Amino acid sequence: MDDLFSKFDPLIEQRETLLKTGLTDPFNLVMEKVESPTVAVCNGKRTILLGTYNYMGMTFDPDVIAAGKKALDEFGSGTTGSRVLNGTYVGHRAVEQALKDFYAMDHAMVFSTGYQANLGVISTIAGKEDYIVLDIDSHASIYDGCALGNAQIVPFRHNDIEALEKRLKRIPEGAGKLVVLEGVYSMLGDIAPLKEMVAVSKANGAMVLVDEAHSMGFIGEHGRGVAEAQGVIDDVDFIIGTFSKSVGTVGGFCVSNHPKFEILRLVCRPYVFTASLPPSVVATAAISIRKLMDSADKRAHLWENSKRLHAGLRQLGFTLGTEEPQSAIIAVIMPDLEKGAAMWEALLHEGLYVNLARPPATPGNMTLLRCSLCAEHSAEQVDQILGMFAAAGRATGCIA
Ligand SMILES: Cc1ncc(COP(=O)(O)O)c(C=O)c1O
Repeated sequence: MDDLFSKFDPLIEQRETLLKTGLTDPFNLVMEKVESPTVAVCNGKRTILLGTYNYMGMTFDPDVIAAGKKALDEFGSGTTGSRVLNGTYVGHRAVEQALKDFYAMDHAMVFSTGYQANLGVISTIAGKEDYIVLDIDSHASIYDGCALGNAQIVPFRHNDIEALEKRLKRIPEGAGKLVVLEGVYSMLGDIAPLKEMVAVSKANGAMVLVDEAHSMGFIGEHGRGVAEAQGVIDDVDFIIGTFSKSVGTVGGFCVSNHPKFEILRLVCRPYVFTASLPPSVVATAAISIRKLMDSADKRAHLWENSKRLHAGLRQLGFTLGTEEPQSAIIAVIMPDLEKGAAMWEALLHEGLYVNLARPPATPGNMTLLRCSLCAEHSAEQVDQILGMFAAAGRATGCIA
């Protein structure tokens, strides 16, 4: 009998070779205690967190915590059912209303994760006969949504407006077309030229879905994302988002003004055939979303942090994913996985946690140290982080 696991042998070998050098496993870190959105204890050491998606620092907000505790007391620990059966509580309706208010849109549908929101919406609206034109660097959940719906996938070069247009023009007349874009691409932290891309998509008769997972809460005047910042939010048909980043909990959603949107609740399998979010989770999400509406100061401070870190890392001699800071993600490009893992470990010893990202999650086979800033990082913490990068960079030979 063939062992179905033999296809993983190259990965197992690569991992074992790396760990044999005595390196701490970068994909197996345990947070022993979490003190705040920016500090945790890892391996017994107080560590600054620079690799979470807690952009707006909502996880320890006192109102958010109080709402979660109250819901736990009043509604119990879980719904034990699907949204279309016993799994819709007042809290699920309330968080959908908060989303409608946040985006000023007619419809909002909450899923159990952002992954499931992409999986569900994309696979349900684009089927076998339809075409999905998507940026080649799209998130795995977008690709999986395309695969689940069996649509024709037409990828185009990352952020290339002309390539998008060319692909759209080649699609047979009369076929259903969905263009899928992201506001912020999470590996390099770069943003999409949504203004131009949405215009090209509309001119060619396509519907547009934008995943704003990494921009919600932070980018745009009201934190609605890159589509808001670039003035095209009203032309976007569907916005996908998550509660696992700026909102500070777990869950996913889609908002839209499409008049037939609500039918998705009956036909979208990743919405119907899974349990709904626990009452405590939707309660924390609802209050967090409402507070994010009113967080202009935090957004401004997060931009300051992003600029400070970007400029400092550049000055130290690191190669970064973008010329200018475009989001709360600053990606440091490493020469290879070995150096990347060594640098990751050296930073951990300094007392800093960042994300090590490697292929296939990264574009162009890159190894990245992804730094994601939080609105709760102080300017002093950012300076401390830069000191840690300087020390770890010199110790590993990444910088002179
Ligand atoms: C662009 C993008 N979309 C969707 C998701 C999925 O979000 P969730 O963590 O809620 O499943 C992620 C998560 O990293 C993401 O980066």
